Amino acid sequence: MNDFDDKATTWDSDPVKLARAQAVADGIRRHVPLSELTGFEFGCGTGLLSFALLPHLKHVTLADNSAGMLDVLRKKIAAAGTTNMRPLMLDLASDPLPDDRYGLVYSLMTLHHIPDTEGVLRSLYTLLDSPGYLCLADLDSEDGSFHGPAFNGHKGFDRDELARKAAQAGFRNVRFDTVFRMTKGDGPGQTEFPLFLMVAEKA
Ligand SMILES: C[S@@+](CC[C@H](N)C(=O)[O-])C[C@H]1O[C@@H](n2cnc3c(N)ncnc32)[C@H](O)[C@@H]1O
Repeated sequence: MNDFDDKATTWDSDPVKLARAQAVADGIRRHVPLSELTGFEFGCGTGLLSFALLPHLKHVTLADNSAGMLDVLRKKIAAAGTTNMRPLMLDLASDPLPDDRYGLVYSLMTLHHIPDTEGVLRSLYTLLDSPGYLCLADLDSEDGSFHGPAFNGHKGFDRDELARKAAQAGFRNVRFDTVFRMTKGDGPGQTEFPLFLMVAEKA
């Protein structure tokens, strides 16, 4: 049982998640010339980001390791009558990579769930065509209050450190933009959590 399975049916009821996905899609469109690229999203959840990008891409493969998320995604694809989205059950941390290669690989709020960042970056580099673009949206470094004490993933990412790891994996022209800000709490106790978009290129 994946932690995300039981969150899947209500995932799209949260307006912040919808606005976040749209803001990241807008950021990707500002930084990458998308037309005619094939896309691969990892940790796609219910597909919010890919649905926002779909009008600008040729075809999208959406990978996740949560059966619950993929069930919701399949229903959304059927309801939309879309023929160029393909859901894929894949654990990016442990499964063999698919054989296909893509012009754009992207994700939103998934990198911090996978312990081995260097390994994921190497896998994403392999999944890209030459040339190709990687777009990763995730939390900037935070004090752990975003998920709370029980969470054992990454407490966001330091941009310089992530850029170094991306370069070690083979990426060039690594750059960052702040594309969204989430908040938790109210009044004076409110905390802001900025989200970066990292864009990197495979030559
Ligand atoms: C915070 S959710 C984000 C979902 C979606 N990107 C969004 O922003 O609405 C993280 C997603 O990553 C998926 N995930 C976590 N670890 C993964 C892994 N190793 N391989 C594939 N998907 C993973 C989870 O199942 C979940 O759907």
